[in-house]
Amino acid sequence: MVQIAPSMLSADFLHLEKDVEMVNAYADIFHLDVMDGVFVPNLSFGFPVIEAIASKAVKPLDVHLMIVSPEKYVKRFAEAGADMISFHLNATDEPGAVLQQIRQCGAKAGLVINPDIPVESLYPYLDKCDYILLMSVFAGFGGQKFIEDTYDRIKTLKAEILRRGLEIPIEVDGGVSPSNASALAEAGAEILVAGSAVFNADDPAQVIASMKA
Ligand code: DX5
Ligand code: ZN
Repeated sequence: MVQIAPSMLSADFLHLEKDVEMVNAYADIFHLDVMDGVFVPNLSFGFPVIEAIASKAVKPLDVHLMIVSPEKYVKRFAEAGADMISFHLNATDEPGAVLQQIRQCGAKAGLVINPDIPVESLYPYLDKCDYILLMSVFAGFGGQKFIEDTYDRIKTLKAEILRRGLEIPIEVDGGVSPSNASALAEAGAEILVAGSAVFNADDPAQVIASMKA
């Protein structure tokens, strides 16, 4: 069954504990978007917020780094409580070394690409990845429109993962909602990130349940 990872970027920061408890109760993974204003034209949050969430979370913390030179911060994110850490392929000169560094810190290592980067560019690193994050919008902001091309990208990547006999879940991030969740799962996605669809809803638990169904 598909796992749902609400993006805390869309949470209510004045009542964060309430939203953390909602994810604990109804979802599977906390998705935490870290932006540096350099790799993407936006800033989000860092260690204090992640540590606060970690102190109440009973579900794994998935940190999505949209920062340059991720190798400088991997250890600190692991210490802050990250169970999964992903970074963008083009954010570093040494993706293989960063993947190894994440594993050495005891976290699962993920590689991310934006929609304009061919999935084939991930292939040299697949054996070092514990999961892949495919962006279905351009990283930087919540609430963008889902890019339809994503289905074919998932299928292509999934076929290569299966061909190699690997077990690497594909996570999809951006514009995910109950309207495309089942098609994404059918294409081969195993983790669905959803920010605005979950937190802008009157009943987040019901939205999560309908995406899992
Ligand atoms: C965008 C982030 C996403 C974002 C998703 O750069 O990586 O995780 O918060 O938000 P929605 O689901 O609203 O597109
Ligand atoms: Zn994200």
